[in-house]
Amino acid sequence: MLIAIDGPAASGKGTLARRLARHFGVPHLDTGLLYRATAAGLIDKGYRLDDVERAVGMARGLALVDFNEDHLRGREMGEAASVVAAIPEVREALIEAQRRFASRPEGAVLDGRDIGTVICPDAPVKIFVTASPETRAQRRALELAGRGEKVDYAAVLEDIRKRDARDSGRAAAPLKAADDAVMLDTTLLGIDEAFVAALRVVAAHIAQSK
Ligand code: CDP
Repeated sequence: MLIAIDGPAASGKGTLARRLARHFGVPHLDTGLLYRATAAGLIDKGYRLDDVERAVGMARGLALVDFNEDHLRGREMGEAASVVAAIPEVREALIEAQRRFASRPEGAVLDGRDIGTVICPDAPVKIFVTASPETRAQRRALELAGRGEKVDYAAVLEDIRKRDARDSGRAAAPLKAADDAVMLDTTLLGIDEAFVAALRVVAAHIAQSK
């Protein structure tokens, strides 16, 4: 069972992907972490985010690094990740590892921005998770506050809008739903409801392929 989940910042795709992976007993890859870790590697060493050569080196060396998720999930790294993610050479450097993960015999769940379009265009189940910018900003503000970051809702909403524009407007693998993705708007759905809706998508696929 290979499931591709894409969507904009704080749409709930990570939570959904984790739950689906647990439910089906397959591994989950949060591909945003790869871009966050690439950005963090540059920032920690004092390099510029637009230093293509070093960014590619960081991306290639990621397997050697132990992810410190706490450091990566902060607000600054989300922004920085979306800057390095717009560099085509960085995306290229990360493709193989993602495809290898996706080709495990038991299946996998991957979430990101280009899973259904670029990384796993043949994934049998693709879900594109959306929610209104205001709802996403509320969720992200709560999440950041929970992690002890000082947050201001208006600034988080501004971040979300900026990131949507950057992720959707870039030339390399822009954020967009694959033609065969099922849209899942979670604006009015809680986590459990979104999970049930996603299970329905999977069930429909299984019924159809019988
Ligand atoms: O959790 P959130 O959606 O805010 O961020 P994320 O999924 O960790 O992704 C951080 C940034 O990495 C995004 O804004 C994208 O620019 C980039 N990204 C990407 O380009 N392609 C992916 N497959 C995953 C993330």
